[in-house]
Amino acid sequence: MSEPVVIVGAGQAGFETATSLRSRGYTGDITILGDEDNVPYQRPPLSKAYLKGDSDPESVALRPRDYFASHRIDLHCSRRVTDIDRQMHEVELDDGSRVGYGHLVLATGTRNRALPVPGAGLPGVQYLRTLSEAQALATTLPSCTSIVVIGGGFIGLEVAAAARIRGVTTTIVESLDRPMARAVSETVSKFFVDEHARHGVQWRLDTSVTEIVEKNGRAGGVRIATGEVIDADIVVVGIGVVPNTELAERAGLAVDNGIVVDLHLLTEDPAISAIGDCASYPNTAGTGRLRLESIQNAVDHARCVANRLVGNDLPYQSVPWFWTEQYASKLQMAGLVTGYDNTVVRGSIEEGSFSVFCFAGARLLGVESVNRTRDHMAARKLLAAGKSLSHDECADPAVDLKALALA
Ligand code: NAI
Repeated sequence: MSEPVVIVGAGQAGFETATSLRSRGYTGDITILGDEDNVPYQRPPLSKAYLKGDSDPESVALRPRDYFASHRIDLHCSRRVTDIDRQMHEVELDDGSRVGYGHLVLATGTRNRALPVPGAGLPGVQYLRTLSEAQALATTLPSCTSIVVIGGGFIGLEVAAAARIRGVTTTIVESLDRPMARAVSETVSKFFVDEHARHGVQWRLDTSVTEIVEKNGRAGGVRIATGEVIDADIVVVGIGVVPNTELAERAGLAVDNGIVVDLHLLTEDPAISAIGDCASYPNTAGTGRLRLESIQNAVDHARCVANRLVGNDLPYQSVPWFWTEQYASKLQMAGLVTGYDNTVVRGSIEEGSFSVFCFAGARLLGVESVNRTRDHMAARKLLAAGKSLSHDECADPAVDLKALALA
């Protein structure tokens, strides 16, 4: 196929689709339409190196601007796609212009979930998902003496670590009784609660923010459900994201917590794919559908679609993996641990170097490794090969996991 490919969304998934098509010899026109004003950039450093002052817009860019022209990728920044005309195979942009497609890839990603409490619109309430939001936070953080972080997910915990490294008094308010509950086991949640507490973070778990308290026309702190008021110079909200599905919905495509696609990442329209954070795809390792928010998912989805468009159509199959860094602890996860009912620990939690093997019965669901990259890499291979392990094999540091994976 060499019909024009149009990609909506200039994030990691959109970028990767374009670059994968070119590296696979695709000669047709490729257009990327993105509503942010930067060239595609990496998001993971935004809540890590960027906040510590160790990064800048150039170093997070996925490629320099001239890469796109030299690879005949027509990149349009600050352009919003407002409609899809499925009959005419065209998309309509916010300036009324139209772009025709042979194949359309929806890589529209997610947006911040807004905090639904009084005062949430005050200056000093900040989010962190885009480069401009990271720039704003990186600018204000050095002059802060105290912050409140709402949400103990990946964004909240990474922001809290960056704040504590700068000596800022930090409180995390999380509505559930443990952080990162959606993605990690209780053992790993507890380790990171302790790790943050060791670095001086104050936790308010199992409670919610009822109001952003105003001071001099700005956010001056938060009130939580117990009535306690916690003062802060800024309030950072990291309470999750919602998929951008409205464009697909308006075009009559099925949406179910994400744009519904099949195992080939195609929507019900054979001329439209959806990938990355916005796509809901069949779970081959379990039941139901999955919508994952990760770099691995964005990149592997993009490659799967690029392969199909150059004539190598295979169903999507990848082991999910994910990482976060907080202080000196690097957590890497392989597989999905949702629904685990028993675990085995390898290594030493006290020394901050361990892996948690999460099982449902005897079936290995996923492995979480803190400062144990070798375990993580072996776990990805084990899970890809569909191999399980006995509890003794997991716990025994003398057992070579990589050798078992390759056996
Ligand atoms: P998240 O879904 O990981 O965590 C949100 C947290 O906020 C949850 O713990 C939830 O229980 C809590 N929460 C929800 N409503 C709340 C409320 N009203 N008050 C207090 N707590 C509340 O989402 P997060 O951290 O905002 O991250 C956004 C996206 O960015 C996710 O897709 C995440 O996976 C991704 N990300 C990935 C990183 C990585 O690769 N290491 C780093 C940072 C973010």
